Amino acid sequence: MIVIIDFGAQYNQLIARRVRESHVYCQIEPPTVSIDHIKDLNPEGIILSGGPSSIYEKNSPKVDTGIFQLGVPILGICYGMHFMADALGGSVKRARKREYGFAQLTVSEHQNLFKGIPLRTTCWMSHGDSILKLPKGFKPIASTENTPIAACANTTNLFFGLQFHPEVEHTPHGTKMIQNFLFHICRCKRSWTMKSFADESISKIKNVVGSHKIILGLSGGVDSSVTAVLINKAVGKNLTCIFIDNGLLRLNEADKLKKTFQKHFNLNIRFVTAGSIFLKALSGVTYPEEKRKIIGRVFIDIFEAEAHKIKHVDFLAQGTLYPDIIESISAFGGPTSVIKSHHNVGGLPKKMRLKLVEPLKYLFKDEVRALGKTLGMDEELIWRQPFPGPGLAIRILGEVTRKRLAILRDVDDLLLAEIKNHGYYKKLWQSFAVLLPLKSVGVMGDMRTYEHIIAIRAVTSKDAMTADWAKLPHQFLGKISNRIINEVNGVNRVVYDISSKPPSTIEWE
Ligand code: XMP
Repeated sequence: MIVIIDFGAQYNQLIARRVRESHVYCQIEPPTVSIDHIKDLNPEGIILSGGPSSIYEKNSPKVDTGIFQLGVPILGICYGMHFMADALGGSVKRARKREYGFAQLTVSEHQNLFKGIPLRTTCWMSHGDSILKLPKGFKPIASTENTPIAACANTTNLFFGLQFHPEVEHTPHGTKMIQNFLFHICRCKRSWTMKSFADESISKIKNVVGSHKIILGLSGGVDSSVTAVLINKAVGKNLTCIFIDNGLLRLNEADKLKKTFQKHFNLNIRFVTAGSIFLKALSGVTYPEEKRKIIGRVFIDIFEAEAHKIKHVDFLAQGTLYPDIIESISAFGGPTSVIKSHHNVGGLPKKMRLKLVEPLKYLFKDEVRALGKTLGMDEELIWRQPFPGPGLAIRILGEVTRKRLAILRDVDDLLLAEIKNHGYYKKLWQSFAVLLPLKSVGVMGDMRTYEHIIAIRAVTSKDAMTADWAKLPHQFLGKISNRIINEVNGVNRVVYDISSKPPSTIEWE
């Protein structure tokens, strides 16, 4: 495995991606990581990431210099290279000319890091500091017009530095450079696959959980579903999944889930039908934050009560993913695992004093999908668009009632089918319907109608932090509108949401 020390650059997740795509396992650690922990990880190499600081600033992040005595190859990128130069006796200064964006790279040594790389290529720079003097034993191996030491090497100790960012797409041979580091320099094997990850995780979970009991809140979303199937393979019936039907789910969602998980995966699931409790708590409530808080509170109460019925539980499983954890690792502090504030069971571990098991916490979303596939889960389960914990309640503007839920459910089901039939489901980050708290006048046959309005929301996005409204073809939108108005009683108007995030959000509440 490879250890990546995170000095706070925005591209760090990309370094991890490149390494993993090369089938080598890696883990990102903060600079405060102890040398003993690094030794325990037994890495075949270390990558020091870039970062926003200058090495000569007083509180610039530093990792234990014991890493240079471990006898493993080290690659420093940008700030990581400056840290290495500074720690080993070189010097770094503010560059005469700062360099941002594309630069022409001239390679002077075609071994090791630059094996198979053209003599001249482009690279992506983003730095205000440069190396003035290299430490003893180092030599420059590439340059750009503004940066004489764009790359350096100490071929005795196998320490390398790159001033530019090989992990971004704008450095066309960057992946090759990283792979040269992994395979020619560190001599890693391409052994990290989802199959190996699954096998290792299953045996780890067996060791940790053993014959104890573990519980999991199953929502039917990708993360909790994959977590459940994985843990089930490790501890079988000692895993109890708790599925709470809050009455705010899509049409037939709970039944479908029952069939899939109980029949196909033989999971031990406790189904709690709690729709009336949620609806009662939501009665008369229209303010979005209040709805969210009520749903969160009722969920935790029910989950807790259900969990107490299971005797001797020691562990709580959660489907936390790597981006949630990386976001909370600060270059200047230690890693603190923050659970997203809207996470359904966020308040549980503390309250219930259970030990957390988070088998996906080192995986990215697409890796979770690949893992699901390896575990035999079908496409339909793995490729689900995100569905918020508070469910349809935050897509019904105004009061949530049985009647309004029924209308939205029918519209949502019809929309989903159309989106899937026309091949848009995977292309869109999310696509859903919103029931507005307004009525409008229409005419059906010869009759005047005064009915509900539905808004359609369809967005593209990479990570939900930003999103763009989807430019769905007019004809397709027209068809959806026709079908909804004709087939769902109580709706006489459909509008399409053409706002992006920011300034709007994806959900309406
Ligand atoms: P917004 O509306 O903030 O949503 O642009 C961003 C993403 O988060 C999802 N979302 C939630 N997911 N519990 C969840 O599990 C929630 O309370 C929640 N609220 C929003 C939303 O669907 C979108 O993908």
